[in-house]
Amino acid sequence: MRAPSAIEDQLPKLVTPVPGPRSRRLARLLKRHEAPTVTYVSEKTPIFWERAADANVWDVDGNRFVDLVSAFGVASLGHACPAVTRAVRRQARRLPHAMGDVHPAAQKARLCRRLSELTFARWTGGRQRGQTLLGNSGFEAVEAAIKTARLHTRRRGVIAFEGSYHGLGYGALEATSRREFREPFADQLGRFAAFAPYPRKKFPARDEAEEARQLRFVEERLHALAASGEFGAVLVEPVQGRGGEVVPPPGFLPMLRDFCDRRGMLLLVDEIYCGLWRTGRWFAVEHSGVVPDVICLGKALTGCLPLSACVGKSDVMAAWPESSGEAIHTSTFLGNPLACAAALAALKAFEEVAPALRLMENGADLLAALRAKLDGVRGIRDVRGIGYLFAIEMDADAGVSPADLCDRLLAQGVIAIPSGPKNEALALAPPLVAPRALLEACFARVAAAIRQ
Ligand SMILES: Cc1ncc(COP(=O)(O)O)c(C=O)c1O
Repeated sequence: MRAPSAIEDQLPKLVTPVPGPRSRRLARLLKRHEAPTVTYVSEKTPIFWERAADANVWDVDGNRFVDLVSAFGVASLGHACPAVTRAVRRQARRLPHAMGDVHPAAQKARLCRRLSELTFARWTGGRQRGQTLLGNSGFEAVEAAIKTARLHTRRRGVIAFEGSYHGLGYGALEATSRREFREPFADQLGRFAAFAPYPRKKFPARDEAEEARQLRFVEERLHALAASGEFGAVLVEPVQGRGGEVVPPPGFLPMLRDFCDRRGMLLLVDEIYCGLWRTGRWFAVEHSGVVPDVICLGKALTGCLPLSACVGKSDVMAAWPESSGEAIHTSTFLGNPLACAAALAALKAFEEVAPALRLMENGADLLAALRAKLDGVRGIRDVRGIGYLFAIEMDADAGVSPADLCDRLLAQGVIAIPSGPKNEALALAPPLVAPRALLEACFARVAAAIRQ
């Protein structure tokens, strides 16, 4: 345990106001040459990153920040994880690119085997295998899962959930419930998704009667939708990420599994954000013991390079036709050797370090401490979380919005992001390997900024 003064020394002290002069110059450059929709450029953001290590990020002006969101949940093993960096360097010298679906690199085969071992083989005691479709971005894994369900069930419909975020490619967007993303393209969407309500666990004390009521309500809606016979799959985030770090009641996934089994539908879980130890276990489904039909992974899979995976139970993946020389689902960079080498190294690092991090216990303590610090503060609606995924939800009239709060925190050297369908929550998803004392100190900064 570090002495408090040592932790104080670890907290960032900025050397320029943020954004500093170099970031401002780069922001002007970006505003001119990047499409307007992408980077939010204001008086207060962005800071341009120059380097990063562990939980720390340095900007081009020499300021150090603590990244409390692991760069969108990617840097779970910390930024520039040495084992991953070594693997990428080694691979870059030997073979940075191969011919994914024609003449692949060995790393692709090894990664697919490892993903099988960690998912369906482990969940079923070796009775099942996982088979993988690799992709680049997370949304591609979701779209591969949707295509799998179409082929396996011959039904086009997918039931997704209110508040869901599965990415912005046209297939994933159709299953994403957020209006602001859908509306500009609504007339080009495939209209195969319908949405059911996403239930919420109550914090800090569970209310089992209320949970049962919510689950009944969701189940009724699911059966009403399924009556059309059009739906072949349920697509769900076991913990909603961009929807505001929403944790469902423990009975939710078992109810979905039972519903899918009774209706002959597939259960597709999107663990792009909540998988790979984010909730304290290898995968969030493991909290309930439910075995899905397909699991989608991305983000922390490499911790640094674009790679996603749609891993399906082998008897479900058998719905895909054998390739006869023309893959019906592929892309130029599929199974890129650099990304596969990074993923193999990251999965090994997770295996070696994550169990000893006691993420569920530490996460519960951090959540309790955050909750205690915010107790009685006006405008705080909910403080929730699981493992190392937390949200502070605020009322619209709280006096400060989560987005303003992020600016305020940035000016104190802490990176956080708003979350939720109306950006009503402040999301915290720190690197799993960050020292607990550092996180306590940073969470205290967050609480103090809210109390301000
Ligand atoms: C749960 C979930 N699914 C899918 C995606 C899309 O991933 P990507 O942005 O890598 O396409 C995200 C991104 O935040 C996500 O959180």
